[in-house]
Amino acid sequence: MAGPVLVFDSGVGGLSVVRSLRQHLPETAMAYCCDNAMMPYGIRPDDWLVQRIVAVCAAAVDATSADTLVVACNTASTLALNELRERLALPVVGTVPAIKPAALASRSGCLALLATSATVSRPYTQRLIDSYAPHCRVKKVAADALVTQAEHQLAGRAVDLEVVRHALAPLIDDPLVDTVVLGCTHFPLLLPWLDEVMPRAITWIDSGDAIARRTVQVMQQPDARQGAQCAWLTASSPALEPGLSRFGFDAVRQLPKV
Ligand code: DGL
Repeated sequence: MAGPVLVFDSGVGGLSVVRSLRQHLPETAMAYCCDNAMMPYGIRPDDWLVQRIVAVCAAAVDATSADTLVVACNTASTLALNELRERLALPVVGTVPAIKPAALASRSGCLALLATSATVSRPYTQRLIDSYAPHCRVKKVAADALVTQAEHQLAGRAVDLEVVRHALAPLIDDPLVDTVVLGCTHFPLLLPWLDEVMPRAITWIDSGDAIARRTVQVMQQPDARQGAQCAWLTASSPALEPGLSRFGFDAVRQLPKV
């Protein structure tokens, strides 16, 4: 029997990808794993991150018997996809900033990439921009503070609009920017607050739908959903449990220590 699709992120951001996956694969069993003990990833050194990401994903694949891994984290994917594919014997789908559709959608030719500090500074990200948006002005904005706000929101706490406004200030002050790539999976969870703070209409682009379509292509044998679907955390966090349950993960367990 086929195993579930395993979705991995540092924290709750991957749930924005789960939303798209559930639309494309309503009958498929899913497991979720987040490395909440070490979140946020976006401010950590690359060498350490590669080892950590491979170790946590390997442990989660073992724990869940997954047969497809979706790395629902731009910070992890722009760094560690090759290592994951070398180390794990299952299809691995990555998440990288959606520069190409954003370049196609922008009327002004001025885009912004909103992501973690790590993602905005990665050579992988610059290669995406050079390949798919050479004719555009692309403003890179690091917004690590929004990761924490998305975590708070999922745990039932209020989003601090001043933090959101401060993070978006470089976009607010640049009126030609009409399209913004949400290059961190946490950010689509904050969409109502991003819209509330922006003084003009923006086309927000995330990778969720493209990842779900790619997952459908690579899946070996879709398994039917059975009983409780499980979320695996690297640190106990009861405050996240109601939010995880809203995305279909009714059981929450701790991953064996990595
Ligand atoms: N959700 C992750 C991403 O897509 C990053 C969050 C973090 O910094 O841990 O990049």
